[in-house]
Amino acid sequence: MMSQDRNDELTLVGRKQPAGRVLRRYWMPAALSDELMTARPVVPVTLMGEKLVLFRDNSGALGLIGRHCPHRGADLCFGRREDNGLRCPFHGWHFDVEGNCVEMPAEPEGSRMHEKIHTTAYPVVERNGIVWAYMGPGEPPAFPEFDCFRAPDTHVFAFKGLWECNWLQAMEVGIDPAHASFLHRFLQDEDPADSYGKQFRDTSSGSDMPMTRVLREFPRPEIRVEQTDYGMRLIALRDLLNGQMHVRVTNQVFPCAIHIPLSNEMSITQWHVPVDDETCYWYAMFTSFGAPVDKAKMRDQRLKEHRLPDYAPLKNRRNNYGYNPDEQERETYTGMGLDINVHDQWAVESMGRIQDRTDEHLGKSDVGIVTYRRMLRAAIAAEAAGEGAMPLSGTPEELAAIRGPVSVDTVAAKEGWEQAWTKVDTARRAAAPWPATL
Ligand code: FES
Ligand SMILES: [Fe+2]
Repeated sequence: MMSQDRNDELTLVGRKQPAGRVLRRYWMPAALSDELMTARPVVPVTLMGEKLVLFRDNSGALGLIGRHCPHRGADLCFGRREDNGLRCPFHGWHFDVEGNCVEMPAEPEGSRMHEKIHTTAYPVVERNGIVWAYMGPGEPPAFPEFDCFRAPDTHVFAFKGLWECNWLQAMEVGIDPAHASFLHRFLQDEDPADSYGKQFRDTSSGSDMPMTRVLREFPRPEIRVEQTDYGMRLIALRDLLNGQMHVRVTNQVFPCAIHIPLSNEMSITQWHVPVDDETCYWYAMFTSFGAPVDKAKMRDQRLKEHRLPDYAPLKNRRNNYGYNPDEQERETYTGMGLDINVHDQWAVESMGRIQDRTDEHLGKSDVGIVTYRRMLRAAIAAEAAGEGAMPLSGTPEELAAIRGPVSVDTVAAKEGWEQAWTKVDTARRAAAPWPATL
């Protein structure tokens, strides 16, 4: 259990809040590149409680500026995209991608008032299907050399979805290896051959046992965690009692992402990005070590479950997440269908918009969550002290040396499992069609 003050400290994302200040030291996903592939690339973006508008100007440059016009507050999402900027339709004030007001056509001829007006503007860059924003002080950090950034565009697919809850509880479900044995339990196994693009349906590497069966029959993993230069590695061990060990290696990527295996060929890096204190988006990058990602298929699978333009899931609290008690008895642990995203969504939204951590009871299986909260508190203290001693806050050279991370789901001999999972990963990287070696 924790105090309300501590819960606020870890969850609230405002500019002056402790966690909000830490999150602003990192590049954050602001939109999918897909969202700008329209005749008029102008989209509203709310990020960490700040209302912004993302647009591409006529020259192709990206801008992320304050949504409300600094004149009298009209909504620039309805701006005229012209003259290499965005022009407010109310009185014609015109802004460039850096937030400079370059023209005030209603002011007297020769007026220089516009030179004093700058609206909020944040640096943005596009990497492998996501537009990233830096909303912190000073120069933005370099990107680490993670697989999702190193792989060519053909081998990365990005998607997102809206969850109606605080970012921290959304992220915490991803560093909780025990829940998969329950929340995502399928009472029958599917044919793993039909598993493309879905999680927990493949077989583990080195085994013909479907993952669904491993998770169902071995629900008490031993969970080991260690802090790393990018965040935390979690190793969940399931002793299969036949001389073999199921080893699942996942990661927390500081401050708000997880990195997990999707299948033997693909991994997922998933950011949990605050829209405001009570809403977040997950942004996932699916990276393939093998064949190019079938983006059309991955997109279709996910668009069937989401509504545009806000990527809100069709199953949600207003329709009980499709809950079906008969299905819960016969097919799935939740009764909410086969899409595990819906299960996670229910788990984290059903806690309430911001989980009341003054009334929780953590067990040994929550070791990842306990460790992460300690890391976040250390980062809050470092940020407040101006020390910058936070994960992934090093020099460009240091960040360029941070690769991976390694996520693996494999079955190995019980003796020597420690070496076995790195071997599986090394072999996969060596065979990849892009430079994937660590
Ligand atoms: S409110 Fe935007 S120009 Fe007047
Ligand atoms: Fe999950």
